[in-house]
Amino acid sequence: MGKRYLVTGGAGFIGSNFIRYIMAKYPDCEVVNLDKLTYAGNLDNLKDIGKHPHYRFVHGDIADRQLVDQLMSGVDYLINFAAESHVDRSIGRPDDFIQTDIFGTFVLLESARKHSVEKFIQISTDEVYGSIDQGSFKETDPLMPSSPYSASKAGADRLAFSYHITYKLPVIITRCSNNFGPYQYPEKLIPLFVTNILEDRKLPIYGDGQNVRDWIYVWDHCDAIDFILAHGDLGEVYNIGGGNEKTNLEITKFMLNKLGKPDNLITYVDDRLGHDRRYSLDCSKLKRLGWRPSNQLETALNETIDWYASNRWWWEKIKSGEYLDYYKSQYGSELS
Ligand code: NAD
Ligand code: DAU
Repeated sequence: MGKRYLVTGGAGFIGSNFIRYIMAKYPDCEVVNLDKLTYAGNLDNLKDIGKHPHYRFVHGDIADRQLVDQLMSGVDYLINFAAESHVDRSIGRPDDFIQTDIFGTFVLLESARKHSVEKFIQISTDEVYGSIDQGSFKETDPLMPSSPYSASKAGADRLAFSYHITYKLPVIITRCSNNFGPYQYPEKLIPLFVTNILEDRKLPIYGDGQNVRDWIYVWDHCDAIDFILAHGDLGEVYNIGGGNEKTNLEITKFMLNKLGKPDNLITYVDDRLGHDRRYSLDCSKLKRLGWRPSNQLETALNETIDWYASNRWWWEKIKSGEYLDYYKSQYGSELS
């Protein structure tokens, strides 16, 4: 019998990739996926795995104490991906970010404390450090989050740490940079722009397009989490970066070029409020432990663009708004 994983938010972008990753690597593991299926949760992301005998989907909220307590029994590894994840939405309406990202994490921590969970991985983000003009953030640098999203993630990050210090809960915290890859909701820069290019729609660049993000292929992120589960020290924080810092304009031009579309699809729009200029991580701690990403940006981005080009079935219904009717007809029985 392999390890028993409770993956929260496993119907989202990174969580679904992580479930696919571990189920391929550890055929005898058991996975329970607890997901509320917000607008970002999508059972299509795990269509190939949905009926696997070692996999169970549970439709529910991480803030539901009773449900979480039921599911926590017998869990070896808890990986908390569940969150409201989009910065723009947090600027418009932060409420759910506070509720899920902070309170939901609190409920998971409390429940894990009552059960003998072997490891609790809190998936935090590089955004908790805020913006940096030069140099790179180390794990010991102060947290200066600048959006309601990153502030709620910073709250959860430190709350998880406090449960390690106070109650000796076996917590490890990861702070990863910007992910890209298959099954990313088309509100985030790369899937939004690739699908817009495929539809000859405009590409709304915020501000001057010179904001810098460090891009990592989602499979490398999953690999790093798996590595940290095996080799990370309890109570520690690990930065996970791709080592690929690019301006938004550079990424956009790469995608236009790959799909053979003109630069005049780019349109400059008002900047995001509080828009962080640059994210940059010092990943030497994880490197010393023995992990580094194995995918190159150009290759992985080309493959990702190809994936969106050949999987229109996945994103067209999301963008057209026909998604909800389809969803009920496909997955109605799993939603009770
Ligand atoms: P996503 O928005 O694609 O997925 C989030 C998932 O969480 C969805 O399936 C949603 O239904 C679920 N969810 C939301 N609220 C819930 C609740 N109350 N109870 C149960 N499930 C709930 O997000 P993502 O991009 O896959 O990010 C996953 C995690 O990784 C988040 O914690 C995010 O902060 C973190 N992260 C993301 C990135 C990135 O580049 N996308 C980088 C670093 C860290
Ligand atoms: O850094 C990790 C974070 O990366 C994660 O914690 C978040 O969950 C994830 O959403 C992502 O946050 P960003 O704000 O960096 O990602 P987003 O794709 O929204 O934007 C990337 C950059 O592109 C950012 O500088 C804003 C810009 N942008 C984005 C969109 C959607 C545009 O210029 N136009 C757009 O339409």
